[in-house]
Order: sequence, then structure tokens, then C-alpha cells
Amino acid sequence: MTGAQIYDGYCASCHQVQGQGSDGDGLPALFHNTSLGHANSNNLVNVVLHGIHRVGTDSVMPGFAHELSDQQVTELSNYLLTSYGNPEAKVTKQQVAQLRDPATAGANTTLLTLARAGMAVGVVVLLALVGWLLARRRKG
Ligand code: HEC
Repeated sequence: MTGAQIYDGYCASCHQVQGQGSDGDGLPALFHNTSLGHANSNNLVNVVLHGIHRVGTDSVMPGFAHELSDQQVTELSNYLLTSYGNPEAKVTKQQVAQLRDPATAGANTTLLTLARAGMAVGVVVLLALVGWLLARRRKG
């Protein structure tokens, strides 16, 4: 199946044939959409796999992790990105597999990487401080 066919089969019932959504029913349009316009495509893949329920809204989107294979999610996501979103952004099968598995899903988020880097820097600074204090004490 092509991305367009997957879209018609699984998504169009809610997001409409052209991805225009349905404002009154809380169904977002898929063009000019934050998940699709972003250079980082993880959000899009996450929404397709696990669904979304924003706090304070009644509308819920179901996840498709059980209906769609990694290959299908990849095809569908790239179709949506090219048709409605940021054509520069790409989704790969490995990315989908990683986001599908809860054990690896959060592993490549920037925030976590930053937190880890921050922790490493913290440890180095602490060791340097302890070393400096010890050196000072020996002198004195
Ligand atoms: C049962 C109806 C339904 C189906 C089927 C559905 N969606 Fe959704 N989708 C929604 C609703 C409702 C929201 C908004 C949820 C919210 O804001 O709480 C949403 C949100 C989204 C968003 C995020 C929009 C944003 O503003 O960030 C994307 C992307 C999306 N859907 C893509 C898809 C794709 C791709 C499919 C097909 C695999 C699909 N949807 C199938 C109802 C549906």
C-alpha cells in the first residue's frame, strides 16, 4: 500500500480526504500543523503510533501501533510530510521501530541527551573542585 492509500484507509475518516480536518468536531487539519511542519518528525510518528489526547479537550485520537507495521507508518508519515508538512523532514523505518518500543522511545530526545551531558559536566566540575580543595589542604 502507498502512503496515500494508508491515509485513506486509516486517517481520512477523521481528518477528511484532503487532510482538512473538521474544526467543529475538534479534528485538526493536517496542513500547517505543528506535528507536520517541524523538522523533527518524531512527534508525527508518536501521534500515529500512540495517538494523542490533549489535556483540556474531549477529542481523542487512537494510536495505530497495532494496525500499522513499521513499514506502513514510515510510508504514511513520509506521504504526509511531503503532501502537507515539511518535505525536508523524513521518517525512517528504524525511527518508527525505536519510537514504537517504549524502552527506546525516549532514548533519543534532545532533552534527555542534554540532561545526560549536563550531568556529565556536573560530575567533572565536582571532581575538579574536590581535587582543588585537596591540593589546597596539602599545601596549607
Ligand atoms: C477517530 C478519529 C481519528 C483518526 C482515525 C485519526 N485521527 Fe489524527 N487526530 C484525531 C483527533 C481528535 C486529534 C486531536 C487530538 C487532540 O488534540 O487532543 C488528532 C490529531 C492528530 C495529529 C496531531 C495534530 C497536531 O495539531 O499536532 C496528527 C499528526 C494526526 N492526528 C494524524 C493522523 C494520522 C496520520 C492518522 C491515520 C493513521 C489519524 N490521525 C487518524 C482524530 C483521529
